Amino acid sequence: MSRKPIGVFDSGLGGLTVVRQIRRQLPREPLIYFGDIARLPYGIKSTRQIREFSLQNTRFLLKQKVKAVVVACNSSSSAAYSALKHEFDIPIIDVIQPACAQALSVTRSGRLGVIGTDATIHSKVYVRTLKRAGGGLKIYSRACPLFVPLVEAGWFDDEVTREVIRRYLKPIKAKRIDTLILGCTHYPLLRKGIEEYMGPRVRIVDSAEPTVGKLASLLERNGLSYPGSGRGRLKVFTSDLPRNFIGIGSRFLGEKLRGVKVIRAW
Ligand code: DGL
Repeated sequence: MSRKPIGVFDSGLGGLTVVRQIRRQLPREPLIYFGDIARLPYGIKSTRQIREFSLQNTRFLLKQKVKAVVVACNSSSSAAYSALKHEFDIPIIDVIQPACAQALSVTRSGRLGVIGTDATIHSKVYVRTLKRAGGGLKIYSRACPLFVPLVEAGWFDDEVTREVIRRYLKPIKAKRIDTLILGCTHYPLLRKGIEEYMGPRVRIVDSAEPTVGKLASLLERNGLSYPGSGRGRLKVFTSDLPRNFIGIGSRFLGEKLRGVKVIRAW
């Protein structure tokens, strides 16, 4: 049993979709979130750069004495997960492997789509992970770089966003996939528009739920679950505080963001 918090990081607000799910499934756990807004977006940067940022973010969380780290960013998970596992001696989980496991359990036809940032899609981590687990799959991937700025701007349900969704997803829809992985923690905010465009036959996989399932068993296995009762405290750190951070962050989190602290060096 451990009273220490769980650390979660992302390049920006997207990881709050994972925090929201942790607070739903593991409400007693105290949490520390770090959103690296000052250096967002990660998804258009090089592997080396994303890895360096991810190592720094994890060091920052370790200074806050976290008991485990959730890499709530697909770009970091694809570029840095093995480096983080190698470097740090605490339980660390990514969002890619749980999403792949979930997708494989729901697909019937074995025709899958994956969307994410440029860095995630070009790393081919999703394709490799899916193919390792299941033979005979057809996987169609597409980078959707405009989704992140649209989400960070809060344009969740907008005519422009719907058009961008159509432009990006048209080639994937034409492949008659039955499962689409949202390979970016920002994309669940566009889920409604994506679902509407893809139609009812396509199952949408959001990594938050399976990731938290994996986190729960990891804490349990390592004897790290929180022993007390009551609602766990959430502390939010960010490397910059844009004017609309609290408003949009609260939409991601599904509750009001409070007491956000800005850090300048970490
Ligand atoms: N949330 C990040 C991810 O899951 C995307 C945002 C970014 O490009 O920094 O990849």
